[in-house]
Amino acid sequence: MQTTQVQAYRAGLLHFHADPAFTPDAHHWHEDGLLVVADGKVQAAGGYAALHAALPPGAVVHDYRGKLITPGFIDTHVHYPQTDMIASPAPGLLPWLNTYTFPTERQFEDPAHAAATAEFFLDELLRVGTTTAMVYCTVHPQSVDAFFEASEKRNLRMVAGKVLMDRHCPTFLQDCAETGGRESEDLIKRWHNRGRAQYAITPRFAPTSTEAQLGVAGELARAYPDTYIQTHVSENEDEVKWVRELFPQARSYLDVYDSYGMLRPRAMYGHCIWLDQGDRRRMAESQAAAAVCPTSNLFLGSGLFDFERADQAGMLLSLATDVGAGTAFSMLQTMNEAYKVARLKGSYLPALRMFYLATLGAARSMQLEGTIGSFAAGAEADFVVLDPHATPLLARRTGHTESLEELLFALALLGDDRTVAATYSAGRMVHRRP
Ligand code: GUN
Ligand code: ZN
Repeated sequence: MQTTQVQAYRAGLLHFHADPAFTPDAHHWHEDGLLVVADGKVQAAGGYAALHAALPPGAVVHDYRGKLITPGFIDTHVHYPQTDMIASPAPGLLPWLNTYTFPTERQFEDPAHAAATAEFFLDELLRVGTTTAMVYCTVHPQSVDAFFEASEKRNLRMVAGKVLMDRHCPTFLQDCAETGGRESEDLIKRWHNRGRAQYAITPRFAPTSTEAQLGVAGELARAYPDTYIQTHVSENEDEVKWVRELFPQARSYLDVYDSYGMLRPRAMYGHCIWLDQGDRRRMAESQAAAAVCPTSNLFLGSGLFDFERADQAGMLLSLATDVGAGTAFSMLQTMNEAYKVARLKGSYLPALRMFYLATLGAARSMQLEGTIGSFAAGAEADFVVLDPHATPLLARRTGHTESLEELLFALALLGDDRTVAATYSAGRMVHRRP
């Protein structure tokens, strides 16, 4: 019988058991901590002194003193096919889609191109410490196979789905209600819950789906209740106006999705900028979650997410990059911009809250608490090693931080891929900074 090899990691240890916006002492912090891992799962997380004494003989201790370990970051909204078009200029969402996005996504008809891009994309996620993402593929089912094949090879927990889009887009990217539905169901059967893969039913957004296609998406969501749903909502004022014209019977943009049964746990709505209070209440009540995408929203000039109103309504929140409209893969850079967006709306996001949103908050939004996003015993051992001395400036600033909040704030505001010394997935090192 093979004995289990225990691996332990000594560093500052941070994770959460609750939302710091609503619960005092929502975080666990061990300045000299130990994360104990066996069989790809967390066995224990706590103070070094206590846990070290209890390690079994043969346990290997990795010394990351001076660094900080947190659960792997979770990016709840990102488009892998848009990797090559990041930083493409356009005056707003709709021209950006027509000028860059659709021609770029056309290339994913070619499985070899899809496979090569998926590998680069996953390298990039791991380089910035992102261990789980909710990923849009393209309308081509082969783009989903390529993505899941690449993530399965690395044993990553990933959610992805085929874009459904049967109108208001170039014909070379159009499916139809019937084929899109059939292809999605085939992909669910092939990939959902295979290893660490999970499927997301992915209507691009209401303007590019007919009522028939939204109906099919809703039926799939009912037939496979533990799959995810992901789409865009209320991102841009021109888009909101367009939806009002296309769906005059709907109370609001969000209500279009609601009327097709797409507000439920495991539904992830990108952006949510132009929601009203009724929409926010429906989000909270249905346990659908918002993916807040600050770098994308600033880049396209879409608007500023209202954290205060979202919190008042009790919405599930997470942070996301939305690359290619997002301008960075790094969740640290995403926090940096989220902080400024909150300030511009007159509210305030402490660094602890931002680290929560990028870890446990996202896991809760995905109904995966206990599986990812924290160091609860039995959770999958996905974690990042952050280096407060990664750059001369970070070292200089963190050399005199006086609280955990100040340290995390410096990491969020000054950090990027260089801050990630190593990334682990299911207990295995999947990136080490050169
Ligand atoms: N709305 C519909 N499609 C997209 C997309 O690809 N990116 C963004 N940011 N918004 C969208
Ligand atoms: Zn998006």
